[in-house]
Amino acid sequence: MWISSEQLDRAAQLLQSKAVVAFPTETVYGLGADATSSQAIRGIYQAKGRPSDNPLIVHIAQRSQLMELTTHVPPKAQQLMDQFWPGPLTIILNVKRQAVAPEVTAGLSTIAIRMPDHPIALNLIAQAGRPIAAPSANTSGKPSPTTAQHVMDDLDGKIAAIVDGGETGVGLESTVIDLTSDVPTILRPGGVSAEAIMSCIGPVEVTSGDKQSSAPKSPGMKYRHYSPDQPVWIVETDWSDVVAKLLKKGEKIGILASDDVLSQFQTEAVATYSLGAQSDVTQASQLLYSGLRALDKTEATIILVQAHPKTGLGVAYMNRLEKASSQC
Ligand code: TXA
Ligand code: MG
Repeated sequence: MWISSEQLDRAAQLLQSKAVVAFPTETVYGLGADATSSQAIRGIYQAKGRPSDNPLIVHIAQRSQLMELTTHVPPKAQQLMDQFWPGPLTIILNVKRQAVAPEVTAGLSTIAIRMPDHPIALNLIAQAGRPIAAPSANTSGKPSPTTAQHVMDDLDGKIAAIVDGGETGVGLESTVIDLTSDVPTILRPGGVSAEAIMSCIGPVEVTSGDKQSSAPKSPGMKYRHYSPDQPVWIVETDWSDVVAKLLKKGEKIGILASDDVLSQFQTEAVATYSLGAQSDVTQASQLLYSGLRALDKTEATIILVQAHPKTGLGVAYMNRLEKASSQC
């Protein structure tokens, strides 16, 4: 069922009755369910086809909900929340026993919490009157959804409803930071940059999120993610060489890049999707998943995507792009 943003009470009632409801946040669409109900949470894992050892982020609408979820809020967590909440920052703290269904944390002693910066998300969570667990609302392994239509493309018939809030703003998922270790550790780069976090709380560690690692700190980082079906190649500067070589091999090329790059390959590419103006990584991040999904539906046999420097939001952009391009 499609639900407009004026009918949030219907969506809230569905959440209260343990149904799974997709809703917009400022990063990507989330697939929400009552975090206190095992039955509801199992519905999320089932709809997404998500491995059950990959824990979920719990979304809250008010700071007062924090104390229901965790035993201790360290000073650095407080500082980060003051500066970045509501916003694209997920904070990992020690979980309060029996605060949420065990399936939410996948058996860990910690819990990921975030307050999204989106009026529909905040109102929906407040009206539901309980913490809402929500992973990205895609089929596991697909790019995260940035429109309601993306959610329906993946999950139509598998979920109770979707609240349509138009396109999401950031376009990439939240930054995940673990504050339970001695030195705060960024487990997933995202909408808030490491530079911004460090200027707020001082030094942090950054994990590689290496899939090969036997005991990843953020369980989600070991799975193949964000991938369309066609192979994805990242291109830095040598566009003409890459395009020429692929054409020679008989490939049909799809290009996801800024307007200036696209204009050079109008005849060589079978499909193109614009990431906006040159060197605008904010716009490129907002459009990346949409572009991967769009080009995956074309006759292209390979998708070329423009690289960005790994600073600020560029770290998250390149992290997702590298995951989309790794063939494993
Ligand atoms: O922007 C976002 O964060 C979106 C929107 C919907 O809020 N949500 C999202 O959720 O990206 P998901 O499930 O796709 O990613 C959650 C990430 C996974 O990598 C998961 O392993 C990690 O957070 N995570 C969750 N709980 C954790 C915990 N207790 N310790 C370490 N990592 C955790
Ligand atoms: Mg996800």
